[in-house]
Amino acid sequence: MSSKTPSSGLTLQGKVSIVSGSSRGIGASLALELARRGAKVTIVYTSPKSEALAKDLVAKIASLENGSQSITVQADLSKVDAGEKIVAATLGAFGNQIDILVNNAGVMFDKSIHDSTAEDYAAIFDVNVRGPLLLVKAVVPHLKAPGRIINISSVGARCGFERMALYSASKAALEGMTRGLAAELGGDGTTVNAVEPGPTESDMLDDVPKEIVELQLKTTPVQHRHGTGNDIAQVVAFLASEESRWISGQTISASGGYLML
Ligand SMILES: NC(=O)c1ccc[n+]([C@@H]2O[C@H](COP(=O)([O-])OP(=O)(O)OC[C@H]3O[C@@H](n4cnc5c(N)ncnc54)[C@H](OP(=O)(O)O)[C@@H]3O)[C@@H](O)[C@H]2O)c1
Repeated sequence: MSSKTPSSGLTLQGKVSIVSGSSRGIGASLALELARRGAKVTIVYTSPKSEALAKDLVAKIASLENGSQSITVQADLSKVDAGEKIVAATLGAFGNQIDILVNNAGVMFDKSIHDSTAEDYAAIFDVNVRGPLLLVKAVVPHLKAPGRIINISSVGARCGFERMALYSASKAALEGMTRGLAAELGGDGTTVNAVEPGPTESDMLDDVPKEIVELQLKTTPVQHRHGTGNDIAQVVAFLASEESRWISGQTISASGGYLML
C-alpha cells in the first residue's frame, strides 16, 4: 500500500467518511484511497497492538497534503455501543455530517460444524452482521444526502467452502442487509452497496486454508493472482463517489473474475 500511487483526483474533497477495520489489511487501503481523493477519514480499529498502525496511517494521510485529514478511534464492533462511540468521535473531529460509511471490519475462522458452538456464531455474527447494522443505525441520523454506505462482503457469501459455514452465512446476511437498507434509505439519493473481495493480500488471507486459496487462484481469470487492497479500494472509492449515484442494492464481486455474479 504505497501513498505514492497516482491520485484519481480530489473527487471526495470535503466528504467525511468512516472506514471500520482500517488499521491494516484491506481497510487501510480503503481509508488511504478515500483520503487520496480528498476525504476526511475516521480510522477504526480494536486491538491495542494496532494503535501504532492506525497512527502510521494518520501520518501517511497527513503527508498527502491534499486537504484530507484523519483521526483514529478504538472501538470493538462486537459491542453494542461501538457505533455511537465512532460517530461521536467523527462528529467531534469533522463537524455535523457524515457522507460515507464503509463497513469493512470483519472476522473469519474456519471450524467444522461438529465443533462449532453458539459462542462461535456470536463471535462471527456480532462483528460481521450486528456491528455493521448498529453502525449504520448510529450514522444514519447524521448522514448527509445523498449518503454512501458500502459493506465489505466476501466471495464466501456465494461459495461453499468446507469449515466456513459461519463466515459464509455472516457475509450472505450482510448482503441481504445491503439490499434492505438500499430499499429503505434510497429516498434522498443515498445508495447502499456491497463489495465482495476474492482472496486479497492481508493477515486474514493468511488464515484461509491453503487448499482453498490455491484453488481460488487457479480459477481467477485475471492474472491468476491475489487481489491487493488497492484493487478493492478503487471499487469502493467509485461507489463512494457521486458518479455511482444510479447503483444501489448491488453486490459487486471484486475478485478478478473468480466469482461472476
Ligand atoms: N483478505 C481477504 O482475502 C478477504 C476476502 C474476502 C473478504 N474479506 C473481507 O474484507 C474485510 C477486511 O478483511 P482483511 O483481510 O483486511 O482483514 P484483516 O487483515 O484481518 O483486518 C481486519 C480489520 O478489522 C478490524 N476488526 C476486527 N475485529 C474488529 C472488531 N471487533 N471491532 C473493530 N474492528 C475490528 C481489525 O482491527 P485490529 O487491527 O484492531 O485487529 C482490522 O483493522 C473483512 O470484512 C473480510 O471479511 C477479506
